[in-house]
Amino acid sequence: MNAYEVIIACGFRGEVKIDEPMSKHTTLGIGGPADVMAYPLDVQDAAGLISAAWREGVQVTVTGLGSNLLVSDNGIRGIVLNTANMSQVEVDEETATVKAGAGAKLSVLVSRCADAGLAGMEFAAGIPGTVGGAVRMNAGTKTGEIKDVLLGVTVIGREGNIAEAKSEDMDHAYRKSSLPEGAIAATAVFKLCRGNPDELKRKIKEAIAARKVAQPYDVMSAGSAFKNPPGHFAWRLIDEAGMKGVSVGGAKVSEKHTNFLINTGNSTAKDFKSLMDKVVAAVKEKTGITLEPEIKTIGEI
Ligand code: EPU
Repeated sequence: MNAYEVIIACGFRGEVKIDEPMSKHTTLGIGGPADVMAYPLDVQDAAGLISAAWREGVQVTVTGLGSNLLVSDNGIRGIVLNTANMSQVEVDEETATVKAGAGAKLSVLVSRCADAGLAGMEFAAGIPGTVGGAVRMNAGTKTGEIKDVLLGVTVIGREGNIAEAKSEDMDHAYRKSSLPEGAIAATAVFKLCRGNPDELKRKIKEAIAARKVAQPYDVMSAGSAFKNPPGHFAWRLIDEAGMKGVSVGGAKVSEKHTNFLINTGNSTAKDFKSLMDKVVAAVKEKTGITLEPEIKTIGEI
């Protein structure tokens, strides 16, 4: 069976798009077509699809808002499972917990918590991705990270099995968790504490404003391109290696924040990857440190 036949055979209930350009689904605005893009309606719909694809040997790639992805110009074979419609956010004020779907935007989660007077999620203000991606990579800022508030996750394994995982069993570290490749954090439950809604909203506003001062926000980027190596800032290493403003085709090292690599309008995945490689080589040459990408690459580039 091919990707489309799998969708039909498994009784998939959500929306389906064929040959969908990934450039429309990544904040970098880069990427060729996905054979099939499927939007599951809920956990069961997603699990049914993943299990059928697994049995038929059809590749499934999971995406959220595509805020951390560099997708090949050749696109993605098989099925791209887009979590956009698995985006419920349920706030329980009694227990100070919030349950959110993989596709819920972090920005929505952050403001829903603040509205309900639940504190602890403000650290995520300004992070552009979804809950699923944030849980998988333990997204964070200087003021906190996902593991600080995560209680547990409903996981769909790559074979379509549904299981529960506790946060403490997920080996969270800097931008890392033990969720295996191909598994989805389909729903996540967060534990917060009581706070004052006005105070929380003020903090969120301040964090977003501070971010706009330090980082590019009105350009096509995938956020920080590289992880900060222990004891270093990636941006400083890149700056000191003389890479500020350097470009390859339509890809450029931001002049505002040198750990942001941006698409100035017509960057291909190849341009972008060449620029990443050039940055890594320059930093290695200057400092001996090998930068590790934070951006996830999909497909051969
Ligand atoms: N700065 C410069 N020049 C630059 C870059 C930064 O002067 O070219 C200054 C900034 O003005 C700021 C300071 O350096 O005062 C630190 O910059 P920033 O706050 O952006 O911190 P960072 O270590 O570069 C990390 C995360 C970001 C997150 C910020 C804020 C990593 C790799 N990045 O960046 O996360 O927003 O802290 O908490 O850990 C992301 O992961 O995509 C991301 C954007």
